[in-house]
Amino acid sequence: MKLFGGAGGLWYGGDYNPEQWPEEVWAEDVRLMREAGVNLVTVGVFSWALEEPSPGRYEFGWLDTVLELCAEHGVAVELATPTAAPPAWFFRRHPEALPVTEDGQLLGPGGRQGFCPSSPAYRERALALVERLAARYRDHPALALWHVHNEYGCHNARCYCDTSAVAFRRWLRDRHGDLETLNAAWGTSFWGQRYGAWEEIVPPRRAAAFQNPTQRLDFYRFSSDELLACFRAERDLLRRATPGVPVTTNFMVHRSKNLDYWRWAAEVDIVSNDHYLVSADPRREVDLALSADVTRSLAAGRPWLLQENATSAVNWQPRNRAKLPGEMRRNGLAHVARGADGVCFFQWRASRAGAEKFHSGMLPHAGTDTRVWREVVELGETLRRLGPVAGGRVSAEVAILFDWEAWWGCELDSHPSVAVGYLDRIRAHYEALWDAGVTVDFAHPEADLSAYRLVLAPTLYLVSDVAASALSDYVAAGGHFLTTYFSGIVDPCDHVRLGGYPGAFREVLGVLVEEFFPLQAGESVRVEAEDPQGAGGRTREWAADVWTELLHLRGAEPVARYVDGPLPGVPAITRHRYRDGVAWYVATRLDAEATGALTEWVTADAGVTPTAEAPRQVEVVRRRTTVGETEAPYLFVLNHGGEPARVSASGTDLITGAPARGWIDVQPGNVAVIEEKGGAPGAAPSGGGQRRC
Ligand code: GAL
Repeated sequence: MKLFGGAGGLWYGGDYNPEQWPEEVWAEDVRLMREAGVNLVTVGVFSWALEEPSPGRYEFGWLDTVLELCAEHGVAVELATPTAAPPAWFFRRHPEALPVTEDGQLLGPGGRQGFCPSSPAYRERALALVERLAARYRDHPALALWHVHNEYGCHNARCYCDTSAVAFRRWLRDRHGDLETLNAAWGTSFWGQRYGAWEEIVPPRRAAAFQNPTQRLDFYRFSSDELLACFRAERDLLRRATPGVPVTTNFMVHRSKNLDYWRWAAEVDIVSNDHYLVSADPRREVDLALSADVTRSLAAGRPWLLQENATSAVNWQPRNRAKLPGEMRRNGLAHVARGADGVCFFQWRASRAGAEKFHSGMLPHAGTDTRVWREVVELGETLRRLGPVAGGRVSAEVAILFDWEAWWGCELDSHPSVAVGYLDRIRAHYEALWDAGVTVDFAHPEADLSAYRLVLAPTLYLVSDVAASALSDYVAAGGHFLTTYFSGIVDPCDHVRLGGYPGAFREVLGVLVEEFFPLQAGESVRVEAEDPQGAGGRTREWAADVWTELLHLRGAEPVARYVDGPLPGVPAITRHRYRDGVAWYVATRLDAEATGALTEWVTADAGVTPTAEAPRQVEVVRRRTTVGETEAPYLFVLNHGGEPARVSASGTDLITGAPARGWIDVQPGNVAVIEEKGGAPGAAPSGGGQRRC
């Protein structure tokens, strides 16, 4: 099977931890893997203590057996470097490698990932092991992909120890060059924080008062880069040993604030991601789609791998919800719809001991006579049938700007309101677009946006000059742009852009904000909007909370004004024609109904169309493969709702083989994947599902 080239079908499998089980079980494992259609397993993720039981003594016999078994049974191996779990002997020898928290607390050994990312001893021992692993398995027929480490930064993203302090200073010298520049960047004239020697600088440990925000921002950047350096060192070694074998490491895209994944994505051969549903989220399908779209965007549109998800419940949330019948399959296929070329799980066999024994697996504690196992087998068969989809791309007319630096900056302390969170508006606008059936890419603020009809920048607090002027050029050239409160406020040093907010976008938005008026917890305001499309000015009244601001029009037209609150009559939403394009500004935190209605206006204004007309709670995404000159579109229709859904489609359902002659009916909880004939469908047939919204 060809890996991630598109021709070989989809991958299916999960983390395989045979070391947790007696050897007699392994033969059953591979037999059942075949039964389920598993063709890829990740082996050895946490096996350092087994592969190197004492310093410099390597034992790979058990791993040889496992890889042989996999090869014999046609299961490809994604071989992991086990560097996320240094063994007990390592910490006994190198107690200095244990991490220290912001509060100065030294963490103990145990758990996993409990090392300081800057520790020279950790890096040396990790690379020595990886070198042995690469040399031993470089020509193994089962080896398909390298899985480096595991979820970098999941538990040890930032270390504040003295070793980290030295590494931080080195990183700062590279970034700022000299102390004068650093003092200027950090604004150290404030509170007399001026540095006269590099040795005076320490990580932003808990202090008596607010830490310097730019120091914190630089420490976040440094910490992401330190772990990236660990990854690069392993990757380079693996690439030298096996130039033909791709290297990945599993991301946690929108769940992890710790790593700047734009920088990371450029360093991996294949982007892979872990996604777990949050039990308390009432719209888990939206969160899943968002995660998949961020991952595809990090992969620059290329196919990616769903490295981990759960067959049913996880064990690390306060209350862990089991998946309902059909949900696991629908989840997996939703990732495939949005560009995944494989669906993998943590983990193959549910553990009987250890911290994750109550986490679901492909093979549950109760064995094969179970709902989960039957669904695992069914999903394997479904993915086999969907093989032709592999390699396909998803295209979007809308992009949401997503930036880890803006996230870090937005959520620093001593801001006007603790209630402004970065993901909050990203999710709100994404959800409204999901409801409208519009496919979305995510983009770095400095990316080329010319392919998009509409670009959204929710709470993009920190923005570089390059991004600000590229966005103005984008709108000037005819693009449509929407941004919200607390965007364009500071530069990458976290210095306020002067002359009125939002400094970076004032001109393109045609507004000037004089002062922020954040609201108290529980306080809300009413906003009256005039439908820009509505003939005769139909008005609507919406609710908003968290934020208001004293805004002056400087060329923009008001779309909505506050009815009450601290600023009655002041514009809350504006629209500005800027050269050939349009820029919208949302100066308050609209509720979901208002965000949905505004999204309808903004998308209509920009000429953005849904993938297909479909009832609410029905997700429709198109993925296209290209072989030579031939393009094949596949329409994924996922019914998350409780009613049967009718959607326009013509072609053949790849899963059932049934023809779709103009439309298909998809039962609640079910999925159809139509290999489309005769191009994209038109409007929904009459009598079909109701229109959205
Ligand atoms: C992931 C991790 C896995 C496992 C899983 C449980 O974050 O990579 O090793 O712990 O969570 O959901």
